[in-house]
Amino acid sequence: MAIEFSQRIRRIASYPAAGGYADDVPAVRLASNESPYPPLSAVREAIQRASSSLNRYPDPSNSLLRRRLSERYGVPASRIAIGNGSCDILLAAGEALLEPGAEVVYAWPSFSVYPHLSAASGARAITVALDGSERHDLGAMLKEITVATRLVLVCNPNNPTSTAVPLQGIAEFIAEAPPYVCVIVDEAYCEFNLLDDPDASIELLKAHPNLVLLRTFSKVHGLCGLRVGFALCGSEELPKALDQVRQPFFCNALAQAAAVEALAHQDEVEDRVARTVAERISVGERLAALGIEVADSQANFCWLQLGEERDELEVMDGLLQRGVLVRGGRALGSETPALRVTYGTSQENERFLDALAEVLSLAPTR
Ligand SMILES: Cc1ncc(COP(=O)(O)O)c(C=O)c1O
Repeated sequence: MAIEFSQRIRRIASYPAAGGYADDVPAVRLASNESPYPPLSAVREAIQRASSSLNRYPDPSNSLLRRRLSERYGVPASRIAIGNGSCDILLAAGEALLEPGAEVVYAWPSFSVYPHLSAASGARAITVALDGSERHDLGAMLKEITVATRLVLVCNPNNPTSTAVPLQGIAEFIAEAPPYVCVIVDEAYCEFNLLDDPDASIELLKAHPNLVLLRTFSKVHGLCGLRVGFALCGSEELPKALDQVRQPFFCNALAQAAAVEALAHQDEVEDRVARTVAERISVGERLAALGIEVADSQANFCWLQLGEERDELEVMDGLLQRGVLVRGGRALGSETPALRVTYGTSQENERFLDALAEVLSLAPTR
């Protein structure tokens, strides 16, 4: 007889993981919005130092990391939550806030983990289409809030479409949202967003106890292999609730040490952003020259439309055969053939562009 699983297991879709991770074949990995730059040597040294105490459990309250984040962002440590990656905070927020009868509102296509929250809890997911420029339609999202809404997720910049809404729009949204609704603005890519100062949203926390800004060390800091993220919250309520639903030692000692060190290198963050933005501009120009429609990226990746006549899987396969790994748009919610492509180093981006031109049977523009 087969094992009998819970109802929720039938509702929860498996995470659509990118392929290629288990292969030995060297690939240009542009499928997971990772940083192409390895961790800084100071961060690697901090990890090395912390490794000598791995016979001890990590600090369960992540005190030093929360203190450093508090100094960096000016938010009291009691209003900062740490997670085993920011995904951990998202899932725990779902567990703490949602249940059958409750509703969660988010845009679609957006981050592929969001549907998990309703599936796991039995809450109702209300999805709102992006606007014609592949941006969040915050006005339409506001209209979907009801007395049953417990959580709204706003991904800014949005994964997978790379677009961002200006801070003014977020400010107006949170001012209109009822105070009983937790609004999580997922800012995993905020450092790459040039529409506003990435830290300007923090000001909104002062007036809105129901606002949460979700951030991560996985992207610009290049530490996704270690798993550490954080939430800057408008009140102490959410950090407390998150800790109630999670295992005690959710953030490992190496991740805590690395994140503390990474925070001390803000100049490197700025340097990486500048390099990524330079790649964003040159890749955008090359794609435009190939006649490919690209969304206005404010992230470390782009979202390109292949055109109805193309077969997305065939294009991805052609790229893979040329050693380039990207994500197909359909698996991420697109109704039309699309690709999500992370910006890598200049050499990696050249390989992608040459391979794409070849696959699409177009002459390279160089
Ligand atoms: C929008 C968004 N939020 C959150 C995450 C999760 O990042 P992590 O769990 O590595 O912090 C990602 C990762 O790709 C993302 O794209």
